Amino acid sequence: MLNGDAGPGVQRAMEIVATLGRIYGAPDLVPVTHVQIAGVSYKNLGDAGVEFLNEWADEGARVRVPTTLNPAGMEMDRWQAMGISPSFAEPQLSAVGAFVKMGVTPTMSCTPYLFPDYVPQRGDHLAWAESSAVAFANSVLGARTNREGGPSALAAAIVGRTPRYGYHLDGERLADVVIEVRCPLREVADFGALSYVVGKQVGSACLWFENLADYLPPLPDDVTEGGDAGDRLKTLGAGLAAYGAVTLYHVAGYTPEANDLGETLIKPGARRLVVDSLDPAYTIMDADPDLHQIDLVTVGCPHASLNEIRQIADMLAGQHLATQLWVTTARITRDRAREAGWVQTIEAAGGQVVADTCAVVAPVRSIGITSMATNAGKMACYAPAHSKVKMRYGSLEQCMDAALTGEWQAE
Ligand code: F3S
Repeated sequence: MLNGDAGPGVQRAMEIVATLGRIYGAPDLVPVTHVQIAGVSYKNLGDAGVEFLNEWADEGARVRVPTTLNPAGMEMDRWQAMGISPSFAEPQLSAVGAFVKMGVTPTMSCTPYLFPDYVPQRGDHLAWAESSAVAFANSVLGARTNREGGPSALAAAIVGRTPRYGYHLDGERLADVVIEVRCPLREVADFGALSYVVGKQVGSACLWFENLADYLPPLPDDVTEGGDAGDRLKTLGAGLAAYGAVTLYHVAGYTPEANDLGETLIKPGARRLVVDSLDPAYTIMDADPDLHQIDLVTVGCPHASLNEIRQIADMLAGQHLATQLWVTTARITRDRAREAGWVQTIEAAGGQVVADTCAVVAPVRSIGITSMATNAGKMACYAPAHSKVKMRYGSLEQCMDAALTGEWQAE
């Protein structure tokens, strides 16, 4: 592959993989079972990125393992209805077209672990680039992946391998920081707030939560259903990766490796961190306390699970919204929620269940959104910076109340 015998597209991919391997001192390459590519929105790619992808596809590069895509900047077949301009939509369609030409499945979701076909098994080696999904795969499922970049993930898909270093190795999966939580965690937004408090203090450390299981119901057998445990953990991992650069956390007595290996996973001399209040997080994440009029309430970051869509449908049944609501999710999850009638309930209230995109990677300012409310920690971290919007942050109940009244109410 490196010599070009498999064509220039494969050669380019192997050059990237081999260079990374040398930089990180990997002894060899490990075959991967699945690749998740991030950096798919035209908002992130720009014209240079779109051109690069098309060039690579034209060179004959094709993926050789199942490979899926992160959200794009718009719903692929409804961009006109979303108010997206052709000057954004055309390069976005071109980028996704290049991925598809290379054999990538255009799932356009950041939650590949909620797809029945792609749930990784414990011990699987992956090359995933979506940081929230990386945290979920490593921590909750016990699979093994580093936090790849967009090009390195695509290169791994084309050669079917990734350098064996970092989180692929047992010795790199030991906890540097032990965390004790001494304040109640009642709902998803609290897990987002916890991710802020911890993420800001630990950087890229591997974590051991010694009593987090006290705040978690058991994980469901079918992870693709989400459930309260999965929803809390996907929020926690997303925020830890956004406010810090956490790639793996263990929950004592709960996550797979912690269950099997116990405290042998804690490095000798690990630092200890006690969290006794979430107030500092809420003060920062609920960034604009004087903001009351909300243009867009957005839930589903990472993409909403079936459980979250059901909860929202229950809250909105028979009511009418006063402002826009996007429940962002994967197309396959939306199809399943439609079969259950929950999408119809949300739409009847005036909300949208939006597939393929989210309020961070869509060009929301260009469609008139200047203020948002969310219950998702990662959204509260990125939307003000990436989308230049004002932000309110709180519980799902507060978000739905804002959607119904158009205003954020004082707690
Ligand atoms: Fe997914 Fe967008 Fe959040 S890609 S993790 S919903 S910022």
